[in-house]
Order: sequence, then structure tokens, then C-alpha cells
Amino acid sequence: MPLLTKAVRGTRDVLPQEAYLYRYLENTALETARNFGYAELRLPVFEHTELFERGVGGTTDVVQKEMYTFFDKSGRSITLRPEGTAGAARACLEHGLLAEALPRKVCYALNCYRYEKPQAGRYREFRQFGVECFGAAAPSADAELIALAAELFSAIGLEHYRIELNSIGCPGCRKVYLESLREYFQQHQDTLCGTCNERLAKNPMRILDCKSPVCASVAANAPKVVDYLCPDCQSHFSAVQRLLDAMGIPFTLNPLIVRGLDYYTRTVFEFISESPELEGLTLGAGGRYDGLIEELGGQYTPSLGWAMGLERVLLQLKTGNAPLPEQEPCVLFIASRGEDAATVTMQLVNALRAEGLHVQSDIAGRSLKAQMKFADKIGAQYTMVLGEEELQTRRANLKNMSSGVEEAVSLDDLAEWVEQKIIQTMQEDLQAYFNE
Ligand code: HAM
Repeated sequence: MPLLTKAVRGTRDVLPQEAYLYRYLENTALETARNFGYAELRLPVFEHTELFERGVGGTTDVVQKEMYTFFDKSGRSITLRPEGTAGAARACLEHGLLAEALPRKVCYALNCYRYEKPQAGRYREFRQFGVECFGAAAPSADAELIALAAELFSAIGLEHYRIELNSIGCPGCRKVYLESLREYFQQHQDTLCGTCNERLAKNPMRILDCKSPVCASVAANAPKVVDYLCPDCQSHFSAVQRLLDAMGIPFTLNPLIVRGLDYYTRTVFEFISESPELEGLTLGAGGRYDGLIEELGGQYTPSLGWAMGLERVLLQLKTGNAPLPEQEPCVLFIASRGEDAATVTMQLVNALRAEGLHVQSDIAGRSLKAQMKFADKIGAQYTMVLGEEELQTRRANLKNMSSGVEEAVSLDDLAEWVEQKIIQTMQEDLQAYFNE
């Protein structure tokens, strides 16, 4: 019979052979962020639609075209989060976290939803790890935030990427810039697509990230925001660059980055893949959003953050052959022959698991031969067979499945033996690594 249905277009099932890698990425990201003072936040998958309309911005593609919005049974307009920043800001405001000692640093690992055209590295449900720092105006906050990303990328062995940096100024300098941008695009009005003509009136900056090649070619010669920075924004931007230089974090200036979300002010940046297979793919991005908290009803709180796409980062790690951890193996499979041996096996397995060991035994009622075949299939490192004789002597042979070597061990010291074996294997692996 054919399957009733399959996963929805743009979504991905993360199967066991990959899921542990997401766990690894998230754990490493959380640990790295913790060292920078970030604490984890868990947020609802859906929010009131106006949070994103106001926060992310009504003229952005995300809000206009990509949100999963629906009315719930009470007729409220609800949206599946397209990103994490607006929800994190809302939660911190709602629970008074911004009334306490600032800066307040929070981080999250969450699923996001955008109705985009699916392609390699672009999904309709995807995973982000993000950090948000509320209440930090100094350029050192921007530099620290980028340093956190660089540290995390180094911790997971991510290479072949560049940091692109720009400043899009404050509302003051933006006003002047928007005027000259509008003037420029008005001269090319007939060439621009219909959507960009609408953007011209509402927010001409959005034309700069239109995906149409015709609009992009017009946008390429448009005035650059960085040339319109007021003295304060200019000195902030210079200080960020100086601090990054001082920390030895390389970056390139890209005056074309404006970001597709409306909340950004001043520093914006993107982490771009330079791996031959993924060249140009944005692995992560972020920047300052000094006005967002006020927009959501709070007091003026200069803030900033970034998020990275976990699918894209994993893709980059895999294509770059980065050293990813192995899935934790089954250390020992205890096979049994006969009912009494099966009972003792369950007792032993239970005790070993209580010691924190990954141990398995037969739960499918298989013959001894089939049990051994299964142990081999799941890649058990050691096996042991328990029968009448082993129960009587309380001793059994522990077989190393890769070398075939067997050693007699006492069933009463089994946990100790297995732990010793794990340490020995780890030492041998380490030795082999250093000998390479
Ligand atoms: P964003 O640039 O929209 O920024 O998304 C951040 C990252 O999420 C992207 O660089 C990309 O790696 C990943 N991403 C975005 N869309 C998709 C997709 N459809 N499929 C797979 N991955 C995707 C934000 O979301 C901001 N909230 C970042 C931020 C945090 N700014 C300040 N704080």
C-alpha cells in the first residue's frame, strides 16, 4: 500500500544518524555562549502576528510573503515564528528581564518557519541558534558578539567562511539616506518590478534585497548607506572595526549588506560560506537593533544579536570534512541462551545502564545466532554470551568485536571491566590520532 502521506514540502525529518549532530551543535553553541554570559531561553513556536509585523517590519519579505499566519479557534491572528529575535525581545520585556541588571544576554535554539522556495540549505522549517544581548550600546558589545560567533565556529571546526560587515546607521542618518535612495530609484522606476515600485513609496531600502536580477542590477549602483553615516554612527562603526582588528578577527566591509529585517540599526554582519560547494551561502547573520525594544512597548534599550542556520552550518561542516563526533556506540551486547540466562542478562544490563553505559540485549526473542548478527549490525564494540555454564561459574568471555580477542571476566566486576575497556579504547584512539 502506498504511504498515506509524506513530509510537507520544505520540511525535513532529522533521522537518528544526523539528529545527534544537531544535539552536538546546539550543546557546543550553548556552552560557548555560556562562557560569554548568555543563558538559554525557550520560546513559544507561535506568537501574535503583530509581534512580527511590528518587530520584523511590515515591508519585509518575511512579513509580506513568508509567514505562516492563521486564525486560531478564537479568531486571533497567530503566526509561526519566522525568526527568534522578536520573540526573545517580547519574552524579556514581558517578564521584566530588562528591568534588572543590563546587559541581559539570552540565547536559544529553535525551529523557524518561512514560506520560502525550498532549495539546498533553504527550508520552510529550519533550525536556528541565536544570541541576543539587550542593553549594550558600546562598540565593544558589537565586537564581543562577533567574537562569540568566531569562537563558536572555531569550536565546531567550521572553516572557509568570511565575516562581512556594514553599518546601516541610526534613524537620523537613515532619514537622509532614504531620501537620496528614493530619488535614485525614482529615476529607474520603469525598470523596477511591481513589488519594488510599492517598496519605493514605503521603504526603498527593501529594494536593495530584491531577488529579481533586474532590480539587483539597478540596486548595485544605488547610493550606499555607509556614505551617509552621521558622526556618531561613523565613530561607532570605526570602533567596532578597531576592536575586531585588536582581537585578530578578520572581516571584510560590504557596503551592500542591508539585511532583510526592518529592526536593524548601525552594525550589521553576515557569515558567508567560502567553501567551493556552498560559496555565497549565508551561514548566519545579525546586527544591532537599538529601536526594537521601544517598538515593542519598552524603554529605549540598545540591543544586538545574531542567529545561524543549523542546517546550513552542518552542511558546511560536512562538505568541509570537519571533525564531527561519532554517534555514541553500543559498548556491550549481552546475548543469552535459555530463560535463566535471559533473566540474569536483564539484571546485568540494567545495572550497567545505571552506571551510564550504553548496553543492549535481546528484546526480540531471537535465537543466539540472530542475536549475534544483530549485535554486529548495530556495531556493538564488545559482546558476551550467557548460558548455563556462565551462570554457574559467574564468568563469561568478553569479545572485542573489532579484534576478535576474548577475555574471561567475572560477571560481578562487569561494570568495572567495561569502563576499563572504554578508557583503553579511548587511549588507543588518542594515541592513533597523535601518531597520524
Ligand atoms: P536571518 O538572516 O533572517 O536573521 O536568518 C539567520 C540565519 O538563519 C540565516 O543566515 C540562515 O543561515 C538561516 N536561515 C534563514 N532562512 C532560512 C531558511 N529558509 N532555511 C534555512 N536556513 C535559513 C534572523 O533571523 C535574525 N533574527 C538574526 C538576528 C538575531 N539578528 C539579531 N539577532
